[in-house]
Amino acid sequence: MRILLHDLTVEPEPWLAHLRQAFPQADIAQWQPGAAPADYALVWAPPQQLIDEQPQLKALFHIAAGVDALLQLRLPPGVPLFRLDDAGMAVQMAEYVCQAVIRHFRELPALEQDSRAGRWQQRKPRRRQDCAVGVMGLGVLGRRVLQALSAFEFPLRGWSRTPQRIEGVATWAGPEGLSEFLASTRVLVNLLPLTPETENLLNRRTLGQLQPGGYLINVARGRHLVEEDLLALLDSGHLAGATLDVFRQEPLPPEHAFWREPRITLTPHTSARTLREESLGQIVAKIRALEAGSAPERLGGLVRAHVGY
Ligand code: NAP
Ligand code: GLV
Repeated sequence: MRILLHDLTVEPEPWLAHLRQAFPQADIAQWQPGAAPADYALVWAPPQQLIDEQPQLKALFHIAAGVDALLQLRLPPGVPLFRLDDAGMAVQMAEYVCQAVIRHFRELPALEQDSRAGRWQQRKPRRRQDCAVGVMGLGVLGRRVLQALSAFEFPLRGWSRTPQRIEGVATWAGPEGLSEFLASTRVLVNLLPLTPETENLLNRRTLGQLQPGGYLINVARGRHLVEEDLLALLDSGHLAGATLDVFRQEPLPPEHAFWREPRITLTPHTSARTLREESLGQIVAKIRALEAGSAPERLGGLVRAHVGY
């Protein structure tokens, strides 16, 4: 068996060592142009050349949850494509989103300012019923986030492409359910995949339908958000603030207006990191299952390229 690794974002040696330990008989190498044909490839943002040179792959593993960048390439027909299916990201996303919701709800930025200024100033308690949290995207991450948020008793809403039922969460689906979902939400969490249908979905029209004093938490992809529309809605006072982990251009350029907007909290695409042990544990288990004859459809994380995620 031959396995190739191509990921520009990770130190390759520990990944290669983990794979060599899992498959001692296999030939495991970092991809180079012209590499010999392999059975499996683990990739992140690979060049088209890798895909074109390896049409015989038994499976391609994308070392991330979102596959938008990979689906821009011409992929070999019939090669199953797997993405990371949680792999330790869901709990990280749950802790990040809960802290962002609670930080906003409990007015922590203002309290921190008071503390730095030496001011002892209590604030009027906010009503939990007035802080409905709506999650766009009810997949692996969105569901885990809602499960974690349920501990804090906020009214919970959810929106997905196909109808989903989640206990304790009011749900809507499809373009026909979007306006009602937004109108019932004050804090909006975006956990959609980036597809032609979801690109630029967070814009003046949709964010303008959130309840007044709304708040945006974007932890999916930067291209979901029309950035100047967010600034306009903050200026008009319709939105109270935002926590953003992802941006149209990453790293966020130093001259970008978001750096200077105090109502925006930003982090460098860090809400749910790829964890080596968890990711490789999942990929190794899938390679073993495929080698033992499992159908790809029986394994989690199989990407449906025709729906875009
Ligand atoms: P997932 O399991 O594939 O879930 C996707 C959800 O989005 C599903 O509920 C799906 O609806 C819904 N959806 C897709 N297209 C839609 C549309 N046009 N309208 C309405 N709903 C739509 O994905 P995941 O593992 O939860 O990950 C979600 C995204 O998070 C990834 O694609 C990635 O971009 C992002 N992410 C970000 C970070 C970070 O560090 N910031 C880390 C990991 C992932 P159905 O239920 O009907 O299929
Ligand atoms: C990170 O953004 C991922 O998609 O895994």
